Amino acid sequence: MSAMSQNPAARSEWALITGSTSGIGRETAIGLAQDGYSVIVTGRSKERAAEVRESIEARGGHAVDLLADLSDPSAVRTLIAQVGDTIGDAALEVLVNNAGGGGFAPTEATSEAMFDAAFNTHVKAPYMLVGAFAPAMATRGRGVIINIGSMSTNMAPNGTSAFQASKGAISMLTKSWTAEYGPRGVRVNSVDPGFVITPANEAYREGYGGFVASLPAGRGAAPEEIAEAIRFLVSPRASYIYGVSLTVDGGKSAVVAM
Ligand SMILES: NC(=O)c1ccc[n+]([C@@H]2O[C@H](COP(=O)([O-])OP(=O)(O)OC[C@H]3O[C@@H](n4cnc5c(N)ncnc54)[C@H](OP(=O)(O)O)[C@@H]3O)[C@@H](O)[C@H]2O)c1
Repeated sequence: MSAMSQNPAARSEWALITGSTSGIGRETAIGLAQDGYSVIVTGRSKERAAEVRESIEARGGHAVDLLADLSDPSAVRTLIAQVGDTIGDAALEVLVNNAGGGGFAPTEATSEAMFDAAFNTHVKAPYMLVGAFAPAMATRGRGVIINIGSMSTNMAPNGTSAFQASKGAISMLTKSWTAEYGPRGVRVNSVDPGFVITPANEAYREGYGGFVASLPAGRGAAPEEIAEAIRFLVSPRASYIYGVSLTVDGGKSAVVAM
């Protein structure tokens, strides 16, 4: 018996959220399941993936968890095949390219391996996933792709050059893919978070104290607040929104200290 037929909540419309074992991706997966999608949870941690899938099931939703290290292109190819096996003839309606995080270092201290991990995870894996799934969306004439960038796409904190460069690349890909797939019914947008209280930046929490206090919002975001922006852009309420980068940063990029 297939996973879909075991669960009455299963729908034929699927959403794949990379990096959904934690933080922003976890809340997005739970939210999109509440919105009625069958959700593919993916990350590297088997335990965290199972926890998110079980959380979705406990709320009456339908989810499948698949593991992949997206810094490894061969693992991305395997994930693409597994997603195909999982959804069968059904449609992948939504792709959220969210997996990633830090690895921050000054340029001279950034190893080739760190650089490659940033670009493989933040750029190459989304590129491969879009190449695999966007054509079918375009053939059907509908689909949504959300790329998770960063507030720092448009600003330059010291000591994060490889991370920022990779986020800058995915921001441009949002526009390139809008040009490519938008005319065939696929909406592609970015969400650029500011400081979000997730495990990714737990190590930086102390150092960000002054930064967070300087925000118009006066606090860091909960991951659910970023997930809400993603869910909106996925929904039909955003039907005329193509190719934007929605900054969700508590006002940081709108103001300047005087
Ligand atoms: N938190 C912030 O303040 C902030 C700000 C700007 C942008 N962002 C962006 O938002 C996205 C989500 O971050 P988060 O704060 O939610 O971080 P998080 O809680 O640490 O979650 C990161 C997720 O990405 C997955 N991931 C990381 N590297 C991966 C890899 N090589 N292969 C597969 N999965 C991988 C993790 O999976 P496992 O744990 O299972 O390995 C986890 O599910 C990232 O792209 C990050 O750059 C976050």
